[in-house]
Amino acid sequence: MKTIIEPFKIKTVEAIRFTTREERERILKDAFYNPFFIHARDVIIDLLTDSGTSAMSAEQWASMMRGDEAYAGSQSFFRFERVVRKITGFKYIIPTHQGRAAEKILFTVLGGEGKYFPSNTHFDTTRANIEFSGAEAYDFPTEVGLRPEIKGDFKGNMDIEKLEQFIKEVGPENIPLVMLTVTNNSGGGQPVSMQNIRETRQVCDKYGLKLFIDACRFAENAYFIKKRESGYETRSILEIAREMFSYADGCTMSAKKDGLVNIGGFLAMNDDELAMKCRNVLIVTEGFTTYGGLAGRDLEAIAQGLEEVLEEDYLKYRIRSVEYLGEKLVESDIPIIEPPGGHAIYIDAKRFAPHIPPEQYPGQSIVCELYLLGGIRTVEIGSVMFGKYDKNGKLIPAKMELVRLAIPRRVYTQSHIDYVIEVIQEVYKNRKKLRGMKIIEEASILRHFTAKFGYVD
Ligand code: F0G
Repeated sequence: MKTIIEPFKIKTVEAIRFTTREERERILKDAFYNPFFIHARDVIIDLLTDSGTSAMSAEQWASMMRGDEAYAGSQSFFRFERVVRKITGFKYIIPTHQGRAAEKILFTVLGGEGKYFPSNTHFDTTRANIEFSGAEAYDFPTEVGLRPEIKGDFKGNMDIEKLEQFIKEVGPENIPLVMLTVTNNSGGGQPVSMQNIRETRQVCDKYGLKLFIDACRFAENAYFIKKRESGYETRSILEIAREMFSYADGCTMSAKKDGLVNIGGFLAMNDDELAMKCRNVLIVTEGFTTYGGLAGRDLEAIAQGLEEVLEEDYLKYRIRSVEYLGEKLVESDIPIIEPPGGHAIYIDAKRFAPHIPPEQYPGQSIVCELYLLGGIRTVEIGSVMFGKYDKNGKLIPAKMELVRLAIPRRVYTQSHIDYVIEVIQEVYKNRKKLRGMKIIEEASILRHFTAKFGYVD
């Protein structure tokens, strides 16, 4: 059979509220053309993020009832610890309420002025936490990783040469750790190959550096390795994941992605002294070491979710459903990052709306139009998110102008996705009418969350 069906049945449903175009025009205006200000009940299909938006399984809900809510030494923590250790192999498993809390702790301990953190591409919260500590964050994606129109198996890879050059330039003594984000979210949800992880490890070894993995989407990355990298065809997802982590000294994790839960995360590592320092910060900011800002039931749901995410039937459906959306858009000549990533499709706004210059945020304009036409919520990943200003206040644009359609896990069916395809096709047909946008108000850090926009006259 050629149709890959959802490997689950639906037991509980949540109603979608439909809105009219007129309503959406008012809603979008009231939201200052920023999708983060739109109320969820005003959204028909929500592709803002794949983070914390998963549908939990019956087993996860059942395990929540078993949550042990003891302040210290809860059973749920030990189950969580066992599962995380089985997958990652790390010695210390530190629960946190989400990914950025793990980042905050790690960079509070290791960051500070004069420190540098290179990565294939830091996610925005990772970068923000590094910069907030006074340190500097650097991205070294490969050339092909920055070219949306070129296909490649592992476009999330680190540019090993550039990494090594950078280490020599700033000095290994100023680099507390090197980071690898798998899959590479900001680079299009593209995977990192096992070979690249191994080579990054070799460079780290050469200069005595630690390697940490930002593991949010480790299972999706492992599935791509299985499908695309020779030698891994017959290995299980767990085996591949274990090998990925075996090259690292630790990881940060947002369980809101491949943990298949709505909240949670962790920080894990092997180093005794680092773990002690991190746990001390954890106790001040998140909670005691056996719950870290989570309820016992949340730890249960993560433990169960991490078991389920390793199932190949699930990953096959997951990766295929994202690919299906990508394929249909490509068939309509709509420019996207190719090949499709693991958790999202990224529309290439530069090619979609070439008449809008980066200073007028073409991605944001497409985001608004998708909402107006179809009630679909997406997010710009371009100069709104990553743009900076030079000394004269002129925008330094991001390397790419993208619109992300992030697919929540186990939430939407194929007909929802077919609807999304139709809406995008329609927006694309009328793309010449898309108008440039400007920022009216913004914060100095992570501005995309709260910026207010208007159309350019
Ligand atoms: N690292 C990566 C690669 C991420 O994608 C995210 C979150 C985080 C870290 C932070 O985790 O949200 O649990 O604090 N990404 C979400 C997204 C927000 O929409 O891509 P968090």
